[in-house]
Amino acid sequence: MTPPREPIAVIGTGYVGLVTAAGFAELGNDVWCVDIDADKVARLERGEIPIYEPGLAESIAANRERLHFSTELAPALEHARLLFVAVGTPPTYSGDADLSAVHAVVDAMPPSDRHALVMKSTVPVGTGASIKRTFAERGKTGFRYVSCPEFLKEGTALADFRRPDRVVVGDDDDWAGDAVCELYAPLGAPLVRTDIASAEMVKLASNAFLATKISFINEIANVCEETGADVGEVAKGMGLDRRIGAHFLRPGIGYGGSCFPKDVSALKQLAGNSGYHFQLLTAVIEVNELQKRRVISKLQKHLGSLVGKTVALLGVAFKPDTDDMREASSLVLAARLQADGATVRAYDPIAEEEARRLMPGVHFAGSAVEALDGADAAVLVTEWPEFRALDWDTAARRMRGRLVIDGRNALDPQQVRAAGFAFEGVGRGADRAAAAAPSSNGSPTTTAAERSEAGA
Ligand SMILES: NC(=O)c1ccc[n+]([C@@H]2O[C@H](COP(=O)([O-])OP(=O)(O)OC[C@H]3O[C@@H](n4cnc5c(N)ncnc54)[C@H](O)[C@@H]3O)[C@@H](O)[C@H]2O)c1
Repeated sequence: MTPPREPIAVIGTGYVGLVTAAGFAELGNDVWCVDIDADKVARLERGEIPIYEPGLAESIAANRERLHFSTELAPALEHARLLFVAVGTPPTYSGDADLSAVHAVVDAMPPSDRHALVMKSTVPVGTGASIKRTFAERGKTGFRYVSCPEFLKEGTALADFRRPDRVVVGDDDDWAGDAVCELYAPLGAPLVRTDIASAEMVKLASNAFLATKISFINEIANVCEETGADVGEVAKGMGLDRRIGAHFLRPGIGYGGSCFPKDVSALKQLAGNSGYHFQLLTAVIEVNELQKRRVISKLQKHLGSLVGKTVALLGVAFKPDTDDMREASSLVLAARLQADGATVRAYDPIAEEEARRLMPGVHFAGSAVEALDGADAAVLVTEWPEFRALDWDTAARRMRGRLVIDGRNALDPQQVRAAGFAFEGVGRGADRAAAAAPSSNGSPTTTAAERSEAGA
């Protein structure tokens, strides 16, 4: 008979905390979840899931009897010895990570020889050492500490929990590290057991590297636009080299979300605070900021001044399959468009509620086609699958202008052009060459460049 799995606690029931709790409940652990947000806890107790993450509601419902939700720490401390910390670590104005929520959790811990904090939150290198110092200063030396960074991706978070590429455990070679390794053992993932500082750095370095890859391919795409090469072909050719790999070579209008922007900044600041100037990351951040704004110049190229123009944003979430709006490129884009005098309409199948709060003055529509009504241009911002299935003939009848900017290279240019639109993707140099070909068959509001598109 397999021995019973030990109860654990999860502090912070956001994207990471809830998925971690659901994942361990699936494995048979009782999970004692704690959050300071009483409303969130009440909803969870009623069986409502406060975030959109595919499969999460079903997983939580199926394992409901093993999941316990409370605003109180006491039941968690009573039942569990491992306390997973998954509170937010948002960026401060300086770009450093704001650790106030982590500190609040540390401050709430009683002296104990039988508990350990297991840090899932992304924290700067040195945080574990500093927390251990705090415990020592307060006579809580028995409290153990483990760094166990989280690598899940929103949209596929549960699948990532069930089949992680690796599990990283940084500890002091004590019972707590052993217990965390044992908890994850059934997943059969490669285990990297290391010291606490190295575990903390694995997380920051991984995200910084992925962000670098995105900014790199975005710059290649921008050069493709100038030279007539097609970044899709280029990425395919590059990605087959095993030293490079095919992942994260898709250009777009910049990375966003709750992790990449803040973790890249946090690593840059961490390096700076230690006296090292991380030049590469400075460029990665700058490229990303400029990439979000390139859509504006593409719109201006076709429409001239944006004053009085209506632009429809298809999708606003930072990526598909999530309602997360943190650092979404749409926020910068909508604000820039409004500042340039345009009216912004938007549609997102899931993120509208949160987006309405963050995007004042933007008119939200109930469907993609409704958002396109009377618009001079459409910009695909988030590659939700339903946008690939859009009927562009219908769109052409509903829109005032004939311009589609595909910010994610998700659409079929031929299909869009066949409906009479000028089309611009990202780094599709051949499109640009096609756009430059002369034609006389365009709508009255279009430039020479897009007339050729409309007539192609
Ligand atoms: N979201 C991701 O894709 C992802 C992936 C990997 C790592 N991370 C990291 O994981 C951490 C959590 O991220 P998230 O996206 O789940 O954040 P989130 O904002 O969705 O959730 C944080 C939760 O912590 C709660 N909380 C705050 N202070 C608390 C306290 N003192 N006690 C109990 N609960 C408290 C909040 O109410 C909230 O419910 C961050 O450090 C993030 O960088 C996030």
